[in-house]
Amino acid sequence: MKSGFKQVLNSLFLNILVIEDNSAEVELIEELLSESPTIRVNVNHVERLSKAIELLAQKKFDAILLDLSLPDSQGLDTIARIKEYGIITPIVVLTARNDQELALQSIQAGAQDYLVKGNVSSELLIRSLRYAVERQLSLEALRLSEEKYRSVVNNIKEVIFQTDTKGNWIFLNPAWTEITGFSVGVSLGNHFLDYIYPEDRPRNLVVFRTLIERKKDDCRYQTRYLTNSGGLRWMEVQSRLTFTSDGAISGTTGTLNDITEQKLAQEALYQSEAREREKAQQLEIALRELQRTESKLIQNEKMVSLGQLVAGVAHEINNPVGFIYSNINPANEYALDLLDLITLYQQQYPHPSAEIQEIIKAIDLDFVKEDFPRLLASMREGANRIQEIVLSLQNFSHLDKAEMKEADLHKGLDSTLLILQHRLKQQSNRPAIQVIKNYGQLPPVECYPGQLNQVFMNILSNAIDALETMIQEEVSFSPQIRIRTQVNHCEKTVAIAIADNGPGIPPHIKKHLFDPFFTTKPVGRGSGLGLSISYSIIVEKHQGELECRSQIGKGTEFVIKLPILLG
Ligand SMILES: Nc1ncnc2c1ncn2[C@@H]1O[C@H](COP(=O)(O)OP(=O)(O)OP(=O)(O)O)[C@@H](O)[C@H]1O
Ligand SMILES: [Mg+2]
Repeated sequence: MKSGFKQVLNSLFLNILVIEDNSAEVELIEELLSESPTIRVNVNHVERLSKAIELLAQKKFDAILLDLSLPDSQGLDTIARIKEYGIITPIVVLTARNDQELALQSIQAGAQDYLVKGNVSSELLIRSLRYAVERQLSLEALRLSEEKYRSVVNNIKEVIFQTDTKGNWIFLNPAWTEITGFSVGVSLGNHFLDYIYPEDRPRNLVVFRTLIERKKDDCRYQTRYLTNSGGLRWMEVQSRLTFTSDGAISGTTGTLNDITEQKLAQEALYQSEAREREKAQQLEIALRELQRTESKLIQNEKMVSLGQLVAGVAHEINNPVGFIYSNINPANEYALDLLDLITLYQQQYPHPSAEIQEIIKAIDLDFVKEDFPRLLASMREGANRIQEIVLSLQNFSHLDKAEMKEADLHKGLDSTLLILQHRLKQQSNRPAIQVIKNYGQLPPVECYPGQLNQVFMNILSNAIDALETMIQEEVSFSPQIRIRTQVNHCEKTVAIAIADNGPGIPPHIKKHLFDPFFTTKPVGRGSGLGLSISYSIIVEKHQGELECRSQIGKGTEFVIKLPILLG
């Protein structure tokens, strides 16, 4: 447009339409216009407005020279009627009335200049026409540029906004209505925060203040806007300060980009990812559960057959031991009676026959008399011990597994130790494992005793295994197992701690201790089920806790905590 504007300014030719009913005036005008040495003016002339409008529709003129009193139109109305037809050709009024008010009204109605007949020189007329053309061209350029701007602003799919320094909307383009459903007219003047999702308001306020206080020049963030229908739209906001011509802050301006679809897609992706993750977790849990069930089955089988064997053996031994035990006392009495009788014989018949004397000597009667009671006493002790072992075996096997009962945990611990006795005592290649018991005053505990004995067995066997590896590495090592029990009356629990002074457990192994089938022992030695079974017996069956504390080089302690009453 700028180039067109220049072109007219420099051109030496103007094509004008004179609308004037007075032919003398027209002649005068033609004369004035022809006087210009620089510009050639082509004058077209009509007498009536109606004719002018017809002509203007057909031909293009650079300017109109208009008389306001025509046969078919008078005064300001004449300008208005030309404008009504959408004619944008610049108008210079040339009239007989020297009237300031009319001049002003003419300009307001759309004329470019107002000249009074008789006061017009050639130069003035030419200049007025030229300036009218120039102004019209620049107005046209401005109009086109505004139109372009408006079309961009109106058609862009982002919201373009402006606020004042308080945050009230002062401009919004039609995209605002398209996205939020709120009309621009109603929204202008309202505070922008009124349209933000309540949860996001504090953050928006902080961002707005940061801008207004000039802590930042611009900002970009995502937030949720409310819609007229009660919904939400996610917007990406880009905002920066605006300034007045003298540099003061006048408010903010920026864009709101609707990213709801993007957000929803992201959310859907996130949710499907989460679902997949959850599925994977569930699969893992199911797998672990399967392993646990499998391990339980194996261990149960193991323990049931061990329990049955132990119970069977105990039962078989019990009867013969009963005979021995019950006969020891009468046997002892008979023996003492017989010894007394022999003594009496010796007193009454101090000189027996040579044959008797020989036998007395051969059997070393004095020694037999002395040793026989000792022998019987040790037989009684042996029988006692066998009976104790049988009792322990029965206690350990507890074939009453399904039954919950009150039990003395110390008995369970002792019978387990007894069964493990052969592993604890001194062996050709190592010293005995010392067992230090520090038993508290435990009340009877409601439990499945057979199962708890399994747990003691597993933990004690592991401790023995660990100590044995230590002994192999360190000859002077003195292996120890410490068993501590105590009651906590406030918590209504009992605790059993079984500690060894073995090698300890490194953290990477410790985190797998209770996993089914986890073992560090050579193939064929460990199944890796002991602790996982113990865990499920203590935690699931008895609502207790099983914890492992271990320090490398110092040893390992397993602490079992059980409620006294099983709920
Ligand atoms: N007191 C301990 N000291 C050092 N390591 C231990 C101790 N107790 C358990 N562990 C470690 O924990 C692992 C798992 O023990 P768990 O009793 O579950 O299985 P296992 O003894 O290997 O085999 P299983 O008991 O089934 O015959 C053992 O292989 C061992 O590495
Ligand atoms: Mg084990």
